[in-house]
Amino acid sequence: MGLSTTISLEEWPGDDGLKVGCGLRPMATTSSKSRVVGGTDAQPGAWPWIVSIQDARGRGSGHICGGSLITPEWVLTAAHCFVKSRAPPAPRRDVSEWRVVAGVTQLSRHGPETQQRQVRRLVLHRDYSSVTESHDVALVQLDRPVRCGPRVQLACVPPAPAALPRLSHCYVSGWGSTDARAAGSADVLQEAKVQLIDPQLCNSSRWYAGAIHEHNLCAGYPQGGIDTCQGDSGGPLSCQDRTGPYFWLVGVTSWGKGCARARHPGVYTSTQHFYDWILAQMGLSTEATTPPPPQTASFSPPSQPPAEQASAEPCPFPRKKLQEFFSLLQELLQKLRGSEA
Ligand code: ARG
Repeated sequence: MGLSTTISLEEWPGDDGLKVGCGLRPMATTSSKSRVVGGTDAQPGAWPWIVSIQDARGRGSGHICGGSLITPEWVLTAAHCFVKSRAPPAPRRDVSEWRVVAGVTQLSRHGPETQQRQVRRLVLHRDYSSVTESHDVALVQLDRPVRCGPRVQLACVPPAPAALPRLSHCYVSGWGSTDARAAGSADVLQEAKVQLIDPQLCNSSRWYAGAIHEHNLCAGYPQGGIDTCQGDSGGPLSCQDRTGPYFWLVGVTSWGKGCARARHPGVYTSTQHFYDWILAQMGLSTEATTPPPPQTASFSPPSQPPAEQASAEPCPFPRKKLQEFFSLLQELLQKLRGSEA
């Protein structure tokens, strides 16, 4: 084996000095078992970008939907979470009705990194339709940023132009129902491995028969058995990069016919498709009148945070630590190279 591999920070997603190291799972053990319906309990911190979006006045935890942190103060989720919640059935766009919990695995028992936030702003996609479930995407701005740590990290959103590349294993996670026939949410976060399913097959007559939009992804299993379910909506479909130790937030859980049925896998909103929309809503649009920022300047928090927010831990994995790690690795390689000669 040649040891000439050079390791560079350049390939890290969003490596513009703003968001180094998104999609990292510092607490995850190497393997995620495949047992959500048909899932298994997730380890604390296993999916550090997932949040629980809760009805502040609801019973129990009040959990309604999942979501994913894409910056310290923005959560990407599904629009339908705010439109036709199970109870009460009216549109619920009043921000005071909601609460967002990050850094949590068991909803009834908050951990050391659990952080609760209020909602400052709710942005539903203007073209969201509750009839066709198209454009099922929303952004939630938190009242103040979360602090990152081993159990709280940001997701990487794949930039629009690139084809869904370099993806290997995909996983769903959420506090949704673990039984297709019963309501109610899980107390402990569930996770399951799923497969991306060819959209054409997914849209074919014996499957979803044309109900899948071009901005949807299907994931699950042709034979069913493992799937997201009610209460998982808004949460992440996360896929591992083939080339690096990080995950991409590829989809947002949207809908399905029943749960875990054969030929009716979970339907997800493709995040890549809404990349530009996401940037624009967060005020990072490239088509503004100001000079366009470089292509890679993606999900940094707005550049002028209020003074008290500036003191919060920066969310991206500390660049210094990463650099230390890489230089150690380089050193090791050098040594190995030396001993090889
Ligand atoms: N719409 C559901 C929710 O509000 C999520 C459904 C996912 N269904 C599925 N079969 N994968 O939580």
